[in-house]
Amino acid sequence: MSGSALRYSRITGTGSMLPARRVTNADLAEQLADRGIETSDDWIVERTGIRARHFADASQSASDLALDASRHALEAAGRKAAEVDLIIVATSTPDMVFPSTATILQHKLGIAGCAAMDLQAVCSGFVYALAVADAMIRTGSARCALVVGAEVFSRILDFSDRTTCVLFGDGAGAVVLEASATPGILASDLHADGSHRDILCTPGTVSGGAVLGNPLLRMDGPAVFKLAVRVLEESARAVLAKAGRTDADIDWLIPHQANIRIMQGTAKKLRLPMDKLIVTVDEHGNTSAASIPLALDVAVRSGRVKAGDTVMLEGVGGGFTWGAVLLDL
Ligand code: UT7
Repeated sequence: MSGSALRYSRITGTGSMLPARRVTNADLAEQLADRGIETSDDWIVERTGIRARHFADASQSASDLALDASRHALEAAGRKAAEVDLIIVATSTPDMVFPSTATILQHKLGIAGCAAMDLQAVCSGFVYALAVADAMIRTGSARCALVVGAEVFSRILDFSDRTTCVLFGDGAGAVVLEASATPGILASDLHADGSHRDILCTPGTVSGGAVLGNPLLRMDGPAVFKLAVRVLEESARAVLAKAGRTDADIDWLIPHQANIRIMQGTAKKLRLPMDKLIVTVDEHGNTSAASIPLALDVAVRSGRVKAGDTVMLEGVGGGFTWGAVLLDL
């Protein structure tokens, strides 16, 4: 088929990776108790829906998790790494200040030459990365993109702050997005408002060979919660309108996996039955940019989400950033 006939982009394979170490709420409560900090499985489950998360070991970086997820996605798509002409890694926990985790992943995949870059939009990172890859494919700049969300948030957690350290986990998810004669990605909708940067941030940086400022995550949970509920509904409505679809057309909602209450609230506003909501937050915790592709891969591999289904992906997080992608699988 000629390049000009391939006007759209479509997901042709998904993959994911969770580090082996599974930490339950009870494990975490025990560790925090040793530091004199009180929490409980009951509190965490009731307020967030989280029961366990996975933590990388000291030798594993974001690019290692990304590598396994990418290999699985490439295998599912029936593609070789050498066929990839664009790599985008969404991450807020890169291997190093520079070069990008995407270039490190490219080398680990045994390829060279194709474009590779990181995209930093915190928990909205995967939705942003998918929208960028879609735009590059539509304009003919790429034909076979590897789009990855990979995080080792355990590295930036403050284990003396019970309001944040119980929420996050590590992992990676990836998709292969290819040029296609039929749509795939139907529409995307991206936003940011930097005036909210202080409610969810890791403000530290490096300067003169030292860490400047606090390099650990901090969050005003209730403020993030309120904003998230509002913008997720707005973005869902906007992306449906752009695609000329209605909420009745959605087969599956795969939102950023941060809190089951936010996710259920969004599903309710879209008048979706709860069994159309893909939930992995219970087993993964909040894996930031990795959460959506991880949940997508789990749903595809379990046979729930199938080719032809209409799927709404929604991200929200630090920045503040938020957005949605509507796609036919
Ligand atoms: O990934 C980007 C998007 N992030 C999000 O979407 C996160 C959004 N926010 C949330 O999910 C929720 O706000 C949290 C789960 C972070 C917190 O839930 P909440 O219902 O908003 O609780 P809260 O912060 O209002 O805290 C309620 C109480 C407080 O005690 P007092 O002041 O009422 O005595 C907290 O100190 O719960 C206490 N608390 C805890 N207790 C036991 C906070 N964390 C814990 C804990 N264990 N881990």
